Amino acid sequence: MKILAIETSCDETAVALVEGAGDLSDTKLTVLGNALYSQAEKHAAYGGVYPSLAKREHQGNLAPLAAEALKQAGMLKEGGHASLPAHALSKIRDEAFRNEVRKFLETYAKPDIDSIAVTHGPGLEPALWTGINFAEAVGAAWDVPVLGINHLEGHIVSALLTTESENRFSLHPFEFTVLALLISGGHTELVLMKDWFAYERVGMTKDDALGEAFDKVARLLDPPTPAPPKVQAAAPRPRPRGGTTITFPSHLIREESCDFSFSGLKTAVLYKLRKMEKISEWDKEEIAQAFEDAARSAIVAKTGRALEITRAKTLAVGGGVSANEEIRRSLRAMVDEDFTGIELFFPEKDMTGDNAVMIGAAAYLRILSGKKSEGALSALGSLMLE
Ligand code: KG4
Ligand code: ZN
Repeated sequence: MKILAIETSCDETAVALVEGAGDLSDTKLTVLGNALYSQAEKHAAYGGVYPSLAKREHQGNLAPLAAEALKQAGMLKEGGHASLPAHALSKIRDEAFRNEVRKFLETYAKPDIDSIAVTHGPGLEPALWTGINFAEAVGAAWDVPVLGINHLEGHIVSALLTTESENRFSLHPFEFTVLALLISGGHTELVLMKDWFAYERVGMTKDDALGEAFDKVARLLDPPTPAPPKVQAAAPRPRPRGGTTITFPSHLIREESCDFSFSGLKTAVLYKLRKMEKISEWDKEEIAQAFEDAARSAIVAKTGRALEITRAKTLAVGGGVSANEEIRRSLRAMVDEDFTGIELFFPEKDMTGDNAVMIGAAAYLRILSGKKSEGALSALGSLMLE
């Protein structure tokens, strides 16, 4: 089964062609095409993702990326629709975007696909709608069903995939229940997956998402380059830890709940920087490391608590921040020490950030499990609890 997957929830425009085979006990996924454009640098000057810029970028990039993904899959053929069904483009209000989509559909023939999957939330609304409108227009023109996929579900699925060979994935052998730790730019949540696509939220951030805190601290330390790689680059270098060691508080860490709070930590970094008269590169590195230490202590403490409470058999960590080596190392150490027998999974490094492969993979698993989203798609998507 071939699925064209589209992801536009934030500042990555991504289109992938994913082929699924097998059933839920033996799932195989082949990535036939994968085209992604990151707008991160364009947003850097604004100090965050600027929604109308994201929308404009998605509008300009979707059709070329879809063509690129199909081309990689060997499925891009000329000879499109001479006359599109009247309703196909009716939801696209922006004229330039409508023309782009029309040109795409008039130029290229319908490829041999079974389904289109599109992220329908959570994310930035104008960005999500761009992907949804594109997916629905193409779905109508090609007469293939369009499936809405939750972005966070994509991140969970990405952690459960293991590479078989280049572009071929299968599911790790794992047992339910799965505790998912989702750490991204927009979300920080602990979610229990009791069965395929049956969720219960165990904890969440009360304020900033972890990735957002990383981004803000990176900007405080080094404005205005796009963030965490720099924070992380600065953080894990070995250094003598003497009397100058900086420590920051880990908020809520002693509280019974499995909730997080990162805004106080970010403010602590801000105050620390304000108090310092001259800030050397060395100071910045110390602060970056202290920030990362406090953040990962909170992550480890709350994830450990959630594992105790839920008695989950599997821990799956997903979202952009799951690329962070220190966080990976600390979670691995915690599981090895305190939770032997629990399987811990992270996504492949090139699948930690936003991408369309995870959306296609989640769509295939939803189709296999018979739990497709029904009805009209909405960009609001909110959460994944059902
Ligand atoms: O999942 P993602 O690509 O987008 C959202 O769904 O939000 O996550 C992006 C977030 C950003 O905040 C980014 O700065 C953060 O993940 N991130 C990292 C690292 N790589 C990306 N945070 C900490 N350490 C990293 N190595
Ligand atoms: Zn994400």
